[in-house]
Amino acid sequence: MGLLVGAAVMVTSSAQAATTLGASAAERSGRYFGTAVAASRLSDSAYTTILNREFNQVTPENEMKIDATEPQQGQFSYGNADRIVQHARSRNMQVRGHTLAWHSQQPGWMQNMSGSTLRNAMLNHVTQVATHFRGQIAWWDVVNEAFADGSSGARRDSNLQRTGNDWIEAAFRAADAADPNAQLCYNDYNIDNWNDAKTQAVYRMVQDFRSRGVPIDCVGLQSHFTGGSNYPSNYRTTLSSFAALGVDVHITELDIRNAPSDAYRNVTNDCLAVARCKGITVWGIRDSDSWRSGESPLLFNGSGQKKAAYDAVLAALNNGTTPTNPVTTPPPTGNPTTPPPSGNCTATITPGTVWGDRYNTSVTVSGASTWSVVVAITAPQKVSTTWSGSFSWDSSGNVMTVRSNGSNTFGFTTMMNGNSSARPQIRSCTAG
Ligand code: XIL
Repeated sequence: MGLLVGAAVMVTSSAQAATTLGASAAERSGRYFGTAVAASRLSDSAYTTILNREFNQVTPENEMKIDATEPQQGQFSYGNADRIVQHARSRNMQVRGHTLAWHSQQPGWMQNMSGSTLRNAMLNHVTQVATHFRGQIAWWDVVNEAFADGSSGARRDSNLQRTGNDWIEAAFRAADAADPNAQLCYNDYNIDNWNDAKTQAVYRMVQDFRSRGVPIDCVGLQSHFTGGSNYPSNYRTTLSSFAALGVDVHITELDIRNAPSDAYRNVTNDCLAVARCKGITVWGIRDSDSWRSGESPLLFNGSGQKKAAYDAVLAALNNGTTPTNPVTTPPPTGNPTTPPPSGNCTATITPGTVWGDRYNTSVTVSGASTWSVVVAITAPQKVSTTWSGSFSWDSSGNVMTVRSNGSNTFGFTTMMNGNSSARPQIRSCTAG
């Protein structure tokens, strides 16, 4: 009887809404909520406080671009990018690499190149940079902004385009060879409106790549919404249409002029409605960090306070939108109530949502208000996202120690990586 009462209480507490963007996205639907990060701001503690609290995914805003990583031909420079990757990965945030091949922010030496010399330099750049970060990047924006605006549906003219129409697929093949485990994305802006010629042209390219086996895994919609390119009512159709090609979709650089709550809420709900929409990245934390700071397009004001749009996004993430692709089989049996083999408090596992490739777990601690819990994961499974605790890892990456940070329930998402049966084990619960 006592056990049954305990179980009922646990269900109630695991249904409580999470209070940060990343935790809500992860806990409710296995998604991420991320932000662009500038290395120069990592020394600003007001900035990193919000970053570390709210986000579980990071995209370097400029530090992985071609001019940053290969300022002189053949001389690679990774310091700022490495700093961001280290900051993110030590906190279990996933990293989106941005970007390997682009017409913009090229170093001077590349701007002056053409023909096969440029093609080879571009491919070498892709190979070197993807190799340097191999194993650390969840998704690469392999190619950025390769299509023209307007009604032509044509490729954008650029030095890279003039090396031949196959430059995009060549870049994807080089990235795949260098980092076979990263997901490879095509990223662009003004591909939000399903009726736009540019959207249709990118769609046809992805369709062609899929049919010919060119290694593309995902499409990124930058989604910089302004007066000029506004949030379209058919955005969800665009997301689901790309997804129907067998690629994931990501909202990669979201910012909206004046941050209207409605538009932010709708964009969030559109992503939640499409199973293959893996997450949302906003293009900066505070308005003062934005590349369009004059338009105040972000979720935090210059003082780091949450804006109305923040509340709208958080509520949408928490809104109980049914997780979009859960496996309908019962939750894993595993060891839901295994008592800790050691320690002086009790940590109880509640299995969460299971998807095809990953599952959530929450753990509730009783018998202590401050505590540390040791949890073991079975390789090759790997924890990809955590919430509501402070997490650290042993050198194997399979054993995590979680310290309380105010909540008596913490949670995490585990990628199955081919092993769908193993479940986390509580090793100990220690008060204090
Ligand atoms: C922007 C950065 O935010 C600025 O700091 C930089 O000066 C220019 O680039 N599309 C992209 C991003 O893919 O890389 C751009 O980032 C914004 C538009």
